[in-house]
Amino acid sequence: MKLSVLKELRDNKHIFISGEDLSKKLGVSRTAVWKHINALKEDGYIIESISRKGYKLVEEADSIIPEDLKEKLKDYKLGDDIHYFESIGSTNNYAKKIALDGCKEGTIVITDQQTEGKGRLGRTWISKPKTSVLMSMVLRPNIHPTEASKITQIAAAAISVALNKMIDAEVKIKWPNDVIINKKKISGILTEMSAELDYINYVIVGMGINVNVEEFQEDIAHIASSIKNETGVELSRSDLVVNIIKEFENLYNDFVATGKLDKTINICKENSITVGARVRIQSRSESYEAEAIDLNSDGELIIKKDNGEIINIVSGEVSVRGLYNYV
Ligand code: BTN
Repeated sequence: MKLSVLKELRDNKHIFISGEDLSKKLGVSRTAVWKHINALKEDGYIIESISRKGYKLVEEADSIIPEDLKEKLKDYKLGDDIHYFESIGSTNNYAKKIALDGCKEGTIVITDQQTEGKGRLGRTWISKPKTSVLMSMVLRPNIHPTEASKITQIAAAAISVALNKMIDAEVKIKWPNDVIINKKKISGILTEMSAELDYINYVIVGMGINVNVEEFQEDIAHIASSIKNETGVELSRSDLVVNIIKEFENLYNDFVATGKLDKTINICKENSITVGARVRIQSRSESYEAEAIDLNSDGELIIKKDNGEIINIVSGEVSVRGLYNYV
Protein backbone atom coordinates (compact mmCIF):
# COMPACT_ATOMS: atom_id res chain seq x y z
CA MET A 1 0.00 0.00 0.00
CA LYS A 2 2.90 2.34 0.79
CA LEU A 3 4.01 1.81 -2.81
CA SER A 4 0.52 2.66 -4.13
CA VAL A 5 0.60 5.95 -2.22
CA LEU A 6 4.05 6.63 -3.67
CA LYS A 7 2.79 5.85 -7.16
CA GLU A 8 -0.09 8.32 -6.80
CA LEU A 9 2.30 11.01 -5.56
CA ARG A 10 4.60 10.32 -8.49
CA ASP A 11 1.72 10.41 -10.98
CA ASN A 12 0.78 13.82 -9.57
CA LYS A 13 4.30 15.15 -9.33
CA HIS A 14 4.51 18.91 -8.66
CA ILE A 15 0.84 19.15 -7.68
CA PHE A 16 -0.99 18.54 -4.43
CA ILE A 17 -3.27 15.55 -4.09
CA SER A 18 -5.67 15.62 -1.17
CA GLY A 19 -5.78 12.98 1.55
CA GLU A 20 -9.43 12.43 0.64
CA ASP A 21 -8.69 11.80 -3.03
CA LEU A 22 -5.90 9.41 -2.08
CA SER A 23 -8.09 7.52 0.35
CA LYS A 24 -10.93 7.20 -2.21
CA LYS A 25 -8.62 6.14 -5.01
CA LEU A 26 -6.79 3.55 -2.91
CA GLY A 27 -9.81 2.39 -0.91
CA VAL A 28 -8.26 3.02 2.51
CA SER A 29 -8.97 5.46 5.34
CA ARG A 30 -7.41 8.92 5.47
CA THR A 31 -5.58 7.85 8.62
CA ALA A 32 -4.05 4.96 6.71
CA VAL A 33 -2.96 7.37 3.96
CA TRP A 34 -1.40 9.64 6.58
CA LYS A 35 0.49 6.67 8.10
CA HIS A 36 1.89 5.66 4.71
CA ILE A 37 2.91 9.25 3.98
CA ASN A 38 4.81 9.29 7.28
CA ALA A 39 6.46 5.99 6.46
CA LEU A 40 7.56 7.39 3.10
CA LYS A 41 8.95 10.47 4.83
CA GLU A 42 10.89 8.15 7.14
CA ASP A 43 12.28 6.39 4.05
CA GLY A 44 13.69 9.76 3.02
CA TYR A 45 11.04 11.01 0.55
CA ILE A 46 10.45 14.73 0.88
CA ILE A 47 6.70 15.24 0.86
CA GLU A 48 5.09 18.61 1.46
CA SER A 49 1.83 18.43 3.40
CA ILE A 50 -0.50 21.41 3.60
CA SER A 51 -3.86 21.21 5.32
CA ARG A 52 -6.83 21.41 2.91
CA LYS A 53 -4.45 20.96 -0.05
CA GLY A 54 -2.99 17.56 0.68
CA TYR A 55 0.36 16.08 -0.23
CA LYS A 56 2.98 16.78 -2.88
CA LEU A 57 6.12 14.78 -3.65
CA VAL A 58 9.01 17.24 -3.63
CA GLU A 59 11.98 14.91 -3.85
CA GLU A 60 12.51 11.19 -4.33
CA ALA A 61 14.38 9.32 -1.60
CA ASP A 62 17.50 7.33 -2.16
CA SER A 63 15.85 4.30 -0.64
CA ILE A 64 15.89 0.72 -1.76
CA ILE A 65 12.25 -0.39 -1.75
CA PRO A 66 12.02 -3.93 -3.12
CA GLU A 67 8.44 -3.53 -4.38
CA ASP A 68 9.51 -0.39 -6.24
CA LEU A 69 12.40 -2.24 -7.87
CA LYS A 70 10.13 -5.14 -8.79
CA GLU A 71 7.62 -2.81 -10.40
CA LYS A 72 10.34 -1.13 -12.47
CA LEU A 73 11.73 -4.54 -13.48
CA LYS A 74 8.39 -6.16 -14.24
CA ASP A 75 9.36 -6.88 -17.86
CA TYR A 76 12.59 -8.58 -16.80
CA LYS A 77 13.30 -12.00 -15.35
CA LEU A 78 15.98 -10.70 -13.01
CA GLY A 79 14.41 -9.12 -9.98
CA ASP A 80 11.25 -11.21 -10.07
CA ASP A 81 12.19 -12.19 -6.54
CA ILE A 82 14.01 -9.66 -4.39
CA HIS A 83 15.30 -10.23 -0.86
CA TYR A 84 16.03 -6.88 0.78
CA PHE A 85 17.81 -6.36 4.10
CA GLU A 86 18.53 -3.14 5.96
CA SER A 87 21.75 -4.80 7.05
CA ILE A 88 23.28 -8.21 6.43
CA GLY A 89 26.69 -9.86 6.67
CA SER A 90 27.23 -10.50 2.97
CA THR A 91 24.66 -10.56 0.16
CA ASN A 92 26.79 -13.17 -1.63
CA ASN A 93 26.68 -15.49 1.39
CA TYR A 94 22.93 -15.08 1.74
CA ALA A 95 22.45 -15.62 -2.00
CA LYS A 96 24.44 -18.85 -1.75
CA LYS A 97 22.23 -20.04 1.07
CA ILE A 98 18.99 -19.45 -0.81
CA ALA A 99 20.50 -20.84 -4.01
CA LEU A 100 21.22 -24.08 -2.13
CA ASP A 101 17.62 -24.08 -0.94
CA GLY A 102 16.54 -23.92 -4.59
CA CYS A 103 15.60 -20.28 -5.21
CA LYS A 104 14.89 -19.47 -8.83
CA GLU A 105 17.25 -17.94 -11.36
CA GLY A 106 17.18 -14.17 -11.27
CA THR A 107 16.63 -13.86 -7.53
CA ILE A 108 18.27 -10.70 -6.21
CA VAL A 109 19.63 -10.11 -2.72
CA ILE A 110 20.16 -6.44 -1.91
CA THR A 111 21.02 -4.51 1.22
CA ASP A 112 21.67 -1.01 2.52
CA GLN A 113 24.57 -2.16 4.65
CA GLN A 114 26.97 -5.09 4.78
CA THR A 115 28.81 -6.00 7.95
CA GLU A 116 30.99 -8.75 6.46
CA GLY A 117 31.23 -7.76 2.80
CA LYS A 118 33.57 -9.97 0.80
CA GLY A 119 35.96 -8.88 -1.91
CA ARG A 120 38.01 -10.95 -4.34
CA LEU A 121 41.02 -12.97 -3.23
CA GLY A 122 39.75 -13.24 0.35
CA ARG A 123 39.74 -9.49 0.87
CA THR A 124 36.98 -7.61 2.68
CA TRP A 125 34.67 -5.13 0.96
CA ILE A 126 34.06 -2.22 3.26
CA SER A 127 30.95 -0.08 2.80
CA LYS A 128 29.08 2.63 4.68
CA PRO A 129 25.31 2.35 5.26
CA LYS A 130 22.90 3.58 2.57
CA THR A 131 25.52 4.97 0.21
CA SER A 132 26.40 1.96 -1.95
CA VAL A 133 24.82 -0.58 -4.21
CA LEU A 134 25.43 -3.94 -2.55
CA MET A 135 23.67 -6.74 -4.35
CA SER A 136 23.98 -10.32 -5.50
CA MET A 137 22.18 -12.14 -8.29
CA VAL A 138 21.50 -15.86 -8.34
CA LEU A 139 21.97 -17.33 -11.81
CA ARG A 140 21.59 -20.86 -13.09
CA PRO A 141 23.04 -20.69 -16.59
CA ASN A 142 23.01 -23.75 -18.79
CA ILE A 143 26.67 -23.39 -19.75
CA HIS A 144 29.85 -25.31 -19.03
CA PRO A 145 31.43 -24.38 -15.66
CA THR A 146 34.62 -23.24 -17.41
CA GLU A 147 32.54 -20.51 -19.09
CA ALA A 148 31.21 -19.06 -15.85
CA SER A 149 33.96 -16.50 -15.31
CA LYS A 150 32.71 -14.73 -18.43
CA ILE A 151 29.63 -13.70 -16.47
CA THR A 152 31.84 -11.41 -14.38
CA GLN A 153 32.73 -9.51 -17.52
CA ILE A 154 29.05 -9.24 -18.41
CA ALA A 155 28.50 -7.63 -15.02
CA ALA A 156 31.35 -5.15 -15.54
CA ALA A 157 30.00 -4.28 -18.99
CA ALA A 158 26.48 -3.79 -17.59
CA ILE A 159 27.69 -1.48 -14.82
CA SER A 160 29.76 0.60 -17.23
CA VAL A 161 26.96 0.93 -19.80
CA ALA A 162 24.40 1.87 -17.14
CA LEU A 163 26.74 4.44 -15.61
CA ASN A 164 27.83 5.90 -18.92
CA LYS A 165 24.15 6.56 -19.67
CA MET A 166 23.55 8.19 -16.29
CA ILE A 167 26.59 10.40 -15.73
CA ASP A 168 28.82 12.60 -17.77
CA ALA A 169 32.11 10.90 -16.95
CA GLU A 170 34.36 8.34 -18.54
CA VAL A 171 33.49 5.07 -16.89
CA LYS A 172 36.22 2.55 -17.61
CA ILE A 173 36.75 -1.16 -17.04
CA LYS A 174 39.98 -2.45 -15.65
CA TRP A 175 40.23 -5.97 -17.06
CA PRO A 176 38.57 -8.18 -16.16
CA ASN A 177 36.04 -6.61 -13.88
CA ASP A 178 36.82 -3.47 -11.90
CA VAL A 179 34.92 -0.33 -12.80
CA ILE A 180 37.01 2.81 -12.75
CA ILE A 181 36.37 6.54 -12.86
CA ASN A 182 39.30 8.98 -12.96
CA LYS A 183 41.71 6.07 -12.42
CA LYS A 184 39.99 5.12 -9.16
CA LYS A 185 38.00 1.98 -8.47
CA ILE A 186 34.34 2.68 -7.82
CA SER A 187 33.01 -0.84 -8.21
CA GLY A 188 34.06 -4.44 -7.77
CA ILE A 189 32.45 -7.74 -8.67
CA LEU A 190 32.72 -11.04 -6.84
CA THR A 191 31.46 -14.07 -8.74
CA GLU A 192 31.14 -17.37 -6.90
CA MET A 193 29.98 -20.69 -8.25
CA SER A 194 28.87 -24.14 -7.19
CA ALA A 195 29.30 -26.72 -9.92
CA GLU A 196 29.83 -30.37 -10.78
CA LEU A 197 32.49 -31.25 -13.37
CA ASP A 198 30.20 -30.41 -16.26
CA TYR A 199 27.15 -28.81 -14.66
CA ILE A 200 26.56 -25.51 -12.86
CA ASN A 201 24.36 -25.61 -9.78
CA TYR A 202 24.42 -21.84 -9.37
CA VAL A 203 26.47 -18.75 -9.99
CA ILE A 204 26.33 -15.79 -7.63
CA VAL A 205 27.31 -12.43 -9.08
CA GLY A 206 27.92 -9.90 -6.31
CA MET A 207 28.32 -6.23 -7.15
CA GLY A 208 29.57 -3.53 -4.85
CA ILE A 209 29.32 0.03 -6.17
CA ASN A 210 30.44 3.08 -4.22
CA VAL A 211 27.68 5.48 -5.21
CA ASN A 212 27.37 8.31 -2.70
CA VAL A 213 30.17 7.36 -0.31
CA GLU A 214 32.13 10.45 0.74
CA GLU A 215 34.92 9.14 2.92
CA PHE A 216 37.29 6.25 2.41
CA GLN A 217 39.67 4.56 4.80
CA GLU A 218 43.13 6.05 4.59
CA ASP A 219 44.76 2.86 3.32
CA ILE A 220 42.47 2.62 0.27
CA ALA A 221 41.69 6.30 -0.41
CA HIS A 222 44.37 6.53 -3.12
CA ILE A 223 42.84 3.70 -5.19
CA ALA A 224 39.14 3.70 -4.26
CA SER A 225 36.48 6.34 -4.72
CA SER A 226 32.79 6.84 -5.36
CA ILE A 227 30.66 8.16 -8.20
CA LYS A 228 29.75 11.17 -6.06
CA ASN A 229 33.34 12.01 -5.18
CA GLU A 230 34.53 11.69 -8.76
CA THR A 231 31.66 13.42 -10.55
CA GLY A 232 29.84 15.50 -7.94
CA VAL A 233 26.64 13.74 -8.97
CA GLU A 234 24.46 12.07 -6.36
CA LEU A 235 22.76 9.21 -8.16
CA SER A 236 19.67 7.40 -6.98
CA ARG A 237 20.91 3.96 -5.99
CA SER A 238 17.60 2.45 -6.89
CA ASP A 239 17.65 3.90 -10.44
CA LEU A 240 21.20 2.63 -10.82
CA VAL A 241 20.23 -0.87 -9.68
CA VAL A 242 17.34 -0.98 -12.14
CA ASN A 243 19.48 0.22 -15.04
CA ILE A 244 22.30 -2.23 -14.28
CA ILE A 245 19.91 -5.16 -14.01
CA LYS A 246 18.31 -4.30 -17.36
CA GLU A 247 21.68 -3.99 -19.10
CA PHE A 248 22.93 -7.16 -17.44
CA GLU A 249 19.89 -9.22 -18.39
CA ASN A 250 20.14 -8.23 -22.06
CA LEU A 251 23.84 -9.14 -22.26
CA TYR A 252 23.42 -12.30 -20.17
CA ASN A 253 20.49 -13.61 -22.23
CA ASP A 254 22.47 -13.02 -25.38
CA PHE A 255 25.46 -14.92 -23.98
CA VAL A 256 23.44 -17.88 -22.72
CA ALA A 257 21.42 -18.11 -25.95
CA THR A 258 24.32 -17.79 -28.41
CA GLY A 259 27.27 -18.99 -26.32
CA LYS A 260 29.04 -15.89 -27.59
CA LEU A 261 30.33 -12.96 -25.62
CA ASP A 262 30.68 -10.54 -28.52
CA LYS A 263 28.35 -7.79 -27.27
CA THR A 264 30.00 -7.79 -23.85
CA ILE A 265 33.49 -7.85 -25.28
CA ASN A 266 32.74 -4.91 -27.56
CA ILE A 267 31.65 -2.90 -24.52
CA CYS A 268 34.66 -4.04 -22.47
CA LYS A 269 37.03 -3.16 -25.30
CA GLU A 270 35.47 0.23 -25.95
CA ASN A 271 35.72 1.15 -22.28
CA SER A 272 38.90 -0.68 -21.35
CA ILE A 273 41.51 1.15 -19.32
CA THR A 274 43.77 -1.90 -19.65
CA VAL A 275 43.92 -2.45 -23.41
CA GLY A 276 46.68 -0.28 -24.79
CA ALA A 277 48.33 0.15 -21.39
CA ARG A 278 51.49 -1.18 -19.89
CA VAL A 279 50.67 -3.72 -17.18
CA ARG A 280 52.35 -5.89 -14.60
CA ILE A 281 51.33 -9.54 -14.75
CA GLN A 282 51.54 -11.32 -11.43
CA SER A 283 51.07 -15.09 -11.33
CA ARG A 284 52.01 -17.51 -8.57
CA SER A 285 55.34 -18.23 -10.17
CA GLU A 286 56.35 -15.01 -11.92
CA SER A 287 55.90 -11.28 -12.24
CA TYR A 288 56.71 -9.26 -15.34
CA GLU A 289 55.73 -6.18 -17.33
CA ALA A 290 54.03 -6.33 -20.72
CA GLU A 291 51.88 -4.41 -23.17
CA ALA A 292 48.13 -5.19 -23.03
CA ILE A 293 47.14 -5.19 -26.67
CA ASP A 294 43.62 -6.56 -27.01
CA LEU A 295 40.77 -8.68 -25.68
CA ASN A 296 39.79 -11.77 -27.63
CA SER A 297 36.24 -13.02 -28.20
CA ASP A 298 36.45 -15.18 -25.05
CA GLY A 299 37.31 -12.16 -22.91
CA GLU A 300 40.93 -13.16 -22.49
CA LEU A 301 43.53 -10.39 -22.33
CA ILE A 302 46.11 -10.53 -25.11
CA ILE A 303 49.47 -9.24 -24.00
CA LYS A 304 52.79 -8.74 -25.72
CA LYS A 305 55.78 -9.56 -23.58
CA ASP A 306 58.91 -7.43 -23.90
CA ASN A 307 60.60 -10.28 -25.81
CA GLY A 308 57.86 -9.98 -28.46
CA GLU A 309 55.97 -13.11 -27.42
CA ILE A 310 52.18 -12.72 -27.56
CA ILE A 311 50.08 -14.70 -25.10
CA ASN A 312 46.49 -14.81 -23.82
CA ILE A 313 45.75 -14.29 -20.16
CA VAL A 314 42.68 -15.96 -18.65
CA SER A 315 40.89 -14.01 -15.92
CA GLY A 316 41.31 -15.43 -12.46
CA GLU A 317 44.71 -16.96 -13.20
CA VAL A 318 46.80 -13.87 -12.68
CA SER A 319 46.50 -10.39 -11.29
CA VAL A 320 47.02 -7.54 -13.74
CA ARG A 321 48.19 -4.23 -12.35
CA GLY A 322 48.26 -1.06 -14.34
CA LEU A 323 51.45 0.93 -14.35
CA TYR A 324 51.90 4.67 -14.48
CA ASN A 325 49.32 5.76 -11.99
CA TYR A 326 46.25 3.70 -12.54
CA VAL A 327 44.97 1.06 -10.13
C1 BTN B 1 36.27 -6.91 -5.40
O1 BTN B 1 37.11 -7.32 -4.58
O2 BTN B 1 36.55 -6.05 -6.23
C2 BTN B 1 34.89 -7.49 -5.39
C3 BTN B 1 33.97 -6.79 -4.41
C4 BTN B 1 32.56 -7.33 -4.41
C5 BTN B 1 31.71 -6.73 -3.34
C6 BTN B 1 30.28 -7.14 -3.44
S1 BTN B 1 29.24 -6.18 -2.39
C7 BTN B 1 27.90 -7.24 -2.71
C8 BTN B 1 28.44 -8.65 -2.73
N1 BTN B 1 28.46 -9.24 -1.41
C9 BTN B 1 29.70 -9.43 -0.96
O3 BTN B 1 30.00 -9.89 0.16
N2 BTN B 1 30.57 -9.04 -1.89
C10 BTN B 1 29.93 -8.58 -3.09
